[in-house]
Amino acid sequence: MDDLKRTAFSKTKMKDIADLAGVSTATVSRALAGSPLVTEETRQVVEEIVRRTGYTVSQAGRGLRLQSSRQILVLLPTISNPFFAEIVQGIDEEAQKAGFSILIGTTEGSVERENLLARQLRSGAVDGLVLMTGRLPSILADWPGATSRIVVLSERVPDAGFCTIGIDNPEAARVATAHLAGLGHRRIAHVAGPPGNVLSGQRLEGYRTALRAVGIGFDPALVAAGDFSVISGSRAMARLLAQNPTAVFCGNDDMALGAMAAAREAGLSIPRDLSIVGFDDLDYAAFIDPPLTTIRQPRRRFGQLAAATVIAVEGGGASRMLEFELVVRRSTLRL
Ligand code: RIB
Repeated sequence: MDDLKRTAFSKTKMKDIADLAGVSTATVSRALAGSPLVTEETRQVVEEIVRRTGYTVSQAGRGLRLQSSRQILVLLPTISNPFFAEIVQGIDEEAQKAGFSILIGTTEGSVERENLLARQLRSGAVDGLVLMTGRLPSILADWPGATSRIVVLSERVPDAGFCTIGIDNPEAARVATAHLAGLGHRRIAHVAGPPGNVLSGQRLEGYRTALRAVGIGFDPALVAAGDFSVISGSRAMARLLAQNPTAVFCGNDDMALGAMAAAREAGLSIPRDLSIVGFDDLDYAAFIDPPLTTIRQPRRRFGQLAAATVIAVEGGGASRMLEFELVVRRSTLRL
C-alpha cells in the first residue's frame, strides 16, 4: 500500500496532506482557502491529494472546505450609522487578502430579515458570518456549525459561546463618565442606547460605576434611552434638559450629535452650559463644533480581526478585547 492509500484509509490530517504535497500545513491551508499567495500549480497538487485521500469537510474546517464559496456575510443593524463603515472596510481589506469577498446585509431590527440573510450561512452560500446586530438569527440557534462559523463583532450575543471581538464597554463608559465627574460635574445625565441591547446595558453600568465612585447617587430621571440614531439622541436630550444636567454622557457619537442639536435648540452653549461626551470617535467627531470628547473604538482593527478569524480559524477563534481610548476635545469643560 503506498503512502497515499494508507493515508486515505486512516483519518487524514492536514499534516498528511502537507507531507504528501511536500509543502507546509500553512500552504495547504492557504491553497484550500484560495489565497493568492499560493501558485496555481501548488493548489492543483494539494486539491488532487485532498480528493484522493478523502480529506473531509468536517476535518478540514470551514476555511479549508473544497466547496468554499469564499464569501463572508456581514450582518449590520443599519448602514445609516457611520460606525459600521470603517469596520466594513477592515473586513473587506482582510477578506481580499485571503481571496474572499463580502456580502453585506442590513437587518433594521427585523427578525424575518435576519433569518432570510442568515439562511445563506446554513445553506453554504457563504462560508462565515460577521455578526454586528447584537442578536443571533433564530434559524442559527440550533445549527451545529454556528460557533465555528460566526464571529460576533462590537456587539454581544449573551451566553452563546461565540468568538467575540470588541472593547471593554463597561470600563470605557466608566472612563467617559469619570472624565465628567473629574471636571467637577455632579448632575451628569446619560443618553442610553436601546433597552434590551447588551451594549446599552454595559454602558449604563459603566456610567453608574463612575457615579458611585465619586459618591453621586443614581437618579433614573437623569437617564433617557435612544436607539443609537442622531434623532433619538436629540429627543432624549430634549427630555433630559428638564432635569438641568450640567453634563451628559451619550451612548454613541450619533446620539451625542443629536444631543448637541437639542441643547442648542434650547439656547444652551456647549460646553459652557452643558459638557458632552460621546462614544465611538467617528470621523466627524473631530470636525464638529465644538469637537467632541469621546471614546475611540479601533473600528478598522475590529473589522480586520473579525475577517481574519472567520476565514482562518477552525472551530471558533478566541475572543479578543481591544484597547479603547478617551479622546478629550472641546465639548467638555470644568464646571
Ligand atoms: O451598534 C450600535 C452602536 O454600538 C454603535 O454606535 C457603536 O457605539 C457600537 O458600539
